[in-house]
Amino acid sequence: MTAAAGPLLELAGIRAGYGDFQALFDISLEVRAGEIVTLIGANGAGKTTTLRVISGSLRATAGTVRFDGHDITQLPAHAIPERGISHVPEGRQLFPHMTVEENLDLGAYNRRSRPRARAALDDQLALFPRLKERRRQLAGTLSGGEQQMVAIARGLMAAPRLLLLDEPSLGLSPKITEEVFARVQDIGKRGVTVLIVEQNVVDGLSISDRGYVIENGRVVMHGAAAALLRDDKIRAAYLGL
Ligand SMILES: Nc1ncnc2c1ncn2[C@@H]1O[C@H](COP(=O)(O)OP(=O)(O)OP(=O)(O)O)[C@@H](O)[C@H]1O
Ligand SMILES: [Mg+2]
Repeated sequence: MTAAAGPLLELAGIRAGYGDFQALFDISLEVRAGEIVTLIGANGAGKTTTLRVISGSLRATAGTVRFDGHDITQLPAHAIPERGISHVPEGRQLFPHMTVEENLDLGAYNRRSRPRARAALDDQLALFPRLKERRRQLAGTLSGGEQQMVAIARGLMAAPRLLLLDEPSLGLSPKITEEVFARVQDIGKRGVTVLIVEQNVVDGLSISDRGYVIENGRVVMHGAAAALLRDDKIRAAYLGL
């Protein structure tokens, strides 16, 4: 249940960086319950850094992150999944010498999700039938697309209300990207709110309600996904049109 009528996730004036380097300059954005929202931006724009701040693996130096009406800005990273936020990192980061099933089981480690781990595994294998066939295969021997599916399914094992996806299409063929994005839409239909980072602007916006464009650590544009897809500046900068 949402504690407040406001957005599920709200970033206000977030600054963050690495050592002396400031990567984010007053990032403000919101994601409402039930939405799929995409962050668009070139390499190094600050997309991954934004997700790291939300999931507590990088501390903001200014600003606030609110989730479900609560200020979570200072919570340690391990407390974030308990609140219902699951981060599927850039590059998947699976355990290659463990099976698909073992990788998935590791996703259900928090107190909220552990009691339901068995049922959650069945849910994920139903969502990703390819993984069902390969449940005993070592993750390192899967194709790139299958590995991405394991990474997403592992994130879902934590029973999140908000799923953060960092470049799920990275290195995948257009056909497999389409399949992965279709599953992200299914996840949205199951009631999970999704914040997705994508360089694949057309596919990302096509499954999204809204989008934010980040350049050099700043939000420079945001709006309905359909409007962004039609926008001349977006088309010139990100679609080469
Ligand atoms: N661990 C780190 N240490 C120092 N600088 C970092 C670190 N991670 C990222 N940066 C810098 O912060 C800036 C933003 O990086 P970030 O990874 O957020 O970009 P991104 O938008 O996710 O890019 P990409 O599309 O290439 O993944 C970049 O200039 C990057 O070099
Ligand atoms: Mg990144």
